[in-house]
Amino acid sequence: MKAMETLQFQAEARSTASTEFFEMPLPQGTMKLRQLMKSADLDEYDGKLGTGSTVWDSAWVMVRWLERCEAAGELQIPGLRILELGSGTGVVGLAAMALGAQSVVLTDFEPLLFLLRENAERNASSLGYDLEQVAVSDLAWGSSIPEGGPWDVVIACDVVVPIFDSEALADQFATLLDGHAPVCYMTYEERNAECGRRFVCLCEERGMEVIELAREQLDPKYSPDDIKILRLRKIVA
Ligand SMILES: C[S@@+](CC[C@H](N)C(=O)[O-])C[C@H]1O[C@@H](n2cnc3c(N)ncnc32)[C@H](O)[C@@H]1O
Repeated sequence: MKAMETLQFQAEARSTASTEFFEMPLPQGTMKLRQLMKSADLDEYDGKLGTGSTVWDSAWVMVRWLERCEAAGELQIPGLRILELGSGTGVVGLAAMALGAQSVVLTDFEPLLFLLRENAERNASSLGYDLEQVAVSDLAWGSSIPEGGPWDVVIACDVVVPIFDSEALADQFATLLDGHAPVCYMTYEERNAECGRRFVCLCEERGMEVIELAREQLDPKYSPDDIKILRLRKIVA
C-alpha cells in the first residue's frame, strides 16, 4: 500500500516538475508557481539560478506535513511567524501563508529573489494571504540574520545536498536558534548517507539536537522512505 502511494506521489511530482507553471492543490485553492527550467530561461539569468528555480519532492513532503500538523500535534500553523531558508520558488513558505501563517520571510541567493516575489504576488489573492506579510530577502547561509525576526519557526527544504555548504547551513541554524527562533524544521532527501550524517554531526557540534519526526506524523502518501523531516532545537544545559 505504502509503495503504491509513494509511486503515485512520485508520478504526481514528476508530472509537475517539468512545466513552466507548477501547480499544487491546497485546501484554499491551487497554488501556481513559475519555475524556470529551460536552458533559455536559465541562460537569461546567466546560469545563476542554481537548484532553486524548480520545486523539489522534499517540498511536497513538507507542505503535506504542514497541512496535517494540527492533527499530528507538532505545530499549529495559524498565526505563526516563519522564516524560510533556501526558498527556491517559494513553494513551502507560500503554502504556509495559505494555511494561515501570520507572516513569512522567504530567503535565497539574490538571483532567485525576483522569482520569489513573482510567485508570492501570483498567489496572494487566490490563496487568501496578505502580500504585505510576505517578505523576500537575500540570505546566503552563514551567520547573518535577515530583518523581520524573531520567528516562531524556521523551515528549510532540501538544503542538505553534497554540493551545498553544510557548515554554513549548520552555522545559520545555530545562529537562528540562539534567540531568533525556538525551533527549525527541515526536510532532508537522502541522496548520500555520508552527507546527511556529516550534517547532523555539524549541528550537534554547534549545540543542537536533531530529531527525525516519526513517519506516522507525515502524510502517508507524501512520505517516501528517502525523505525525512528533521526538527532542530538548541540544547539547553
Ligand atoms: C534543492 S533547492 C530546494 C528549493 C526549495 N526549498 C524546494 O524544496 O523546492 C535548494 C535551495 O537552497 C539554496 N541554497 C543552496 N546553497 C545555499 C547557500 N549557501 N545559501 C543560501 N541558499 C542556498 C538554493 O539556491 C536552492 O534554492
